[in-house]
Amino acid sequence: MSANLDRVTVPKFTAMKAAGQKITMLTAYDFLTAALVDVAGIDGILVGDSLGMVVQGHPTTLSVTLDQVIYHAEMVGRAVGRALVVVDMPFPSYHLGNYRAIENAARGLKEARAQAVKLEGGTAQAETIAALVSAGIPVMGHCGLQPQSIHQLGGYSVQRDREQVLADARAIEQAGAFAMVLECVPAELAREVTAAVSVPTIGIGAGAACDGQILVLQDMLGLTPGRLPRHVRAYADLKQAIADAVARYRDDVRAGTFPGEEQSFR
Ligand code: KIV
Repeated sequence: MSANLDRVTVPKFTAMKAAGQKITMLTAYDFLTAALVDVAGIDGILVGDSLGMVVQGHPTTLSVTLDQVIYHAEMVGRAVGRALVVVDMPFPSYHLGNYRAIENAARGLKEARAQAVKLEGGTAQAETIAALVSAGIPVMGHCGLQPQSIHQLGGYSVQRDREQVLADARAIEQAGAFAMVLECVPAELAREVTAAVSVPTIGIGAGAACDGQILVLQDMLGLTPGRLPRHVRAYADLKQAIADAVARYRDDVRAGTFPGEEQSFR
């Protein structure tokens, strides 16, 4: 079997930061959207635990299980030929000791054919990150806003504690992570973190100075119901496009104009 030379790898992420090339990432949770995102040339696809809110309709990410993430990641892994696939570790799949964290993270690589895992936490998770990395599992860290700690935080707010965010980012880097998500931190602080660490920072609500950006696919496609968070730019209005298409279909069926001649067999 020949290797795909275009494949985005973990070392490629490192090289992109060194070369000053911005890294593009989006989430995906299924075969169809992952294939579309991959073909469009996005560098990394995260099978995020945001699937709990986006796909399952829960109010937080906390109810997502490892089996559910693996179920979605397997579909994404099968669809993707170029992008780096990263599997999110759901709560509490990496909080119960290094042995279980390695066992759980390995499922992402073995069953979903992902190249890396992501987990939330800085100083608090440094030991776990180091254990995964020494087992040969590439880790993307995640600091700033950590949605799995929503009940401790009391809400999805911008994280302004400069010392804490810097300490978390440095701990993630020193533990051996190859990249980190910086979520909802002031743009100036994200710039400082990006300059302070040697690994790429992937921002979401963290300004333009990060080494890359990630958005939830359904948010940037304008599919998510309700008001979009401030950090999202909607690049399409698929919610409206779907509503229009469904209404036209409904009206055609009611009027007897669908199916027409072209959709009927002789
Ligand atoms: O779960 C997720 O989609 C994430 C991104 C928002 C970074 O963690």
